[in-house]
Amino acid sequence: MTIPLLDLGPSHKPLYAEFHAAFDRVLTTGRFIMGPEVEMFEREIAEVVGVRHAIAMSSGSDALLAALMALKVAPGDEVITTPYSFFATAGCIARLRATPVFVDVQPDTLNIDVDHVARAITPKTKAIIPIHLFGLPADLEELRELARRHDIVLVEDACQAIGATYRGASIGAIGDMATFSFFPSKNLGGFGDGGLLTTNSDDLARLVRMIRTHGSEKKYHHEIVGANFRLDALQAALLRVKLPHLDGWAAARKANADRYRVLFAAAGLDEIMLPPEPRDRTHVYHQFVIRAPHRDALRASLGESGIGTEVYYPVPLHLQPCFADLGYGKGDFPHAERAAHEVLALPMFPGLTESQQERVVGAIRAFVHTSGVTRPSAVS
Ligand SMILES: Cc1ncc(COP(=O)(O)O)c(C=O)c1O
Repeated sequence: MTIPLLDLGPSHKPLYAEFHAAFDRVLTTGRFIMGPEVEMFEREIAEVVGVRHAIAMSSGSDALLAALMALKVAPGDEVITTPYSFFATAGCIARLRATPVFVDVQPDTLNIDVDHVARAITPKTKAIIPIHLFGLPADLEELRELARRHDIVLVEDACQAIGATYRGASIGAIGDMATFSFFPSKNLGGFGDGGLLTTNSDDLARLVRMIRTHGSEKKYHHEIVGANFRLDALQAALLRVKLPHLDGWAAARKANADRYRVLFAAAGLDEIMLPPEPRDRTHVYHQFVIRAPHRDALRASLGESGIGTEVYYPVPLHLQPCFADLGYGKGDFPHAERAAHEVLALPMFPGLTESQQERVVGAIRAFVHTSGVTRPSAVS
């Protein structure tokens, strides 16, 4: 029996009847673009995030792009972000012909390092985009203070972290804007692409809503140049079925993470580093990412045992060919580069069973003992 990295079945199967009802509702009304399902979804998710405005978007990538368009980010502007994220976090900056300025991550959380951000700020800096990697919030309070002091904007890339909290507050409501993804594998995944932008600013919300529909508030009157960044009514209706279950699924993920910790401790696997869980924030475990010496060999061995894993991410953004003209090179961001060689995401989803987790950890233990790997030098 294989153990997939992600199995949506346990979350989806109990909801099939509600999904069908949501589909029928949209089919019957014939309102496929915008309309009441999108508006109700926006109201409901604004409540969950604890934010004034939630704007449903076509994807997390488009939400990031729209956020920067609303800030009028343009050629010559700099936006500081992390080299250790999914491509979209930096891609949105480059698409506006602005300059992504990368700074290294913290060695343990792999989230953006605030001290490095502070050193990278210049008069050209327009915004900072931290990402809450794998579901663990970045240092939002420090980042917000820094951004305020320099009069620059903080955009949270919350695409992997819906439902996470930071010092008691929900992420997505702390930065000036935040973006979420409903890519099917996300903790709140849709049935295709989808995303969200949240903000407490009435002005930014109005701008983003305009940008979402080709820069117009009144049909066929375009005040600015926008795009088609709308979420389908069908996606909104289906996501409304899943939204009330978000907390329960986050609790299930956390329980899985706790169980992995117990199993790793019992197996005496000191060679494997487990994801840190700082006390002042909650981790929603979009991914449970370990760090292992001989990662590629371990991954191959787990694959032979039918255990699904993934490497997020094998090449840091500053080393991607499309960013070659930014002039970064190997060695510029050692923590990000080291992580790229060591990280391995293990199966993690609501419904993952204890016996599946025992098999995963058992297979890692077997690999470590037969291959004689040793503990990597301390990460500092
Ligand atoms: C950190 C991060 N930012 C942005 C995105 C882009 O979201 P989407 O795939 O919905 O465009 C994703 C997810 O795919 C992500 O993980």
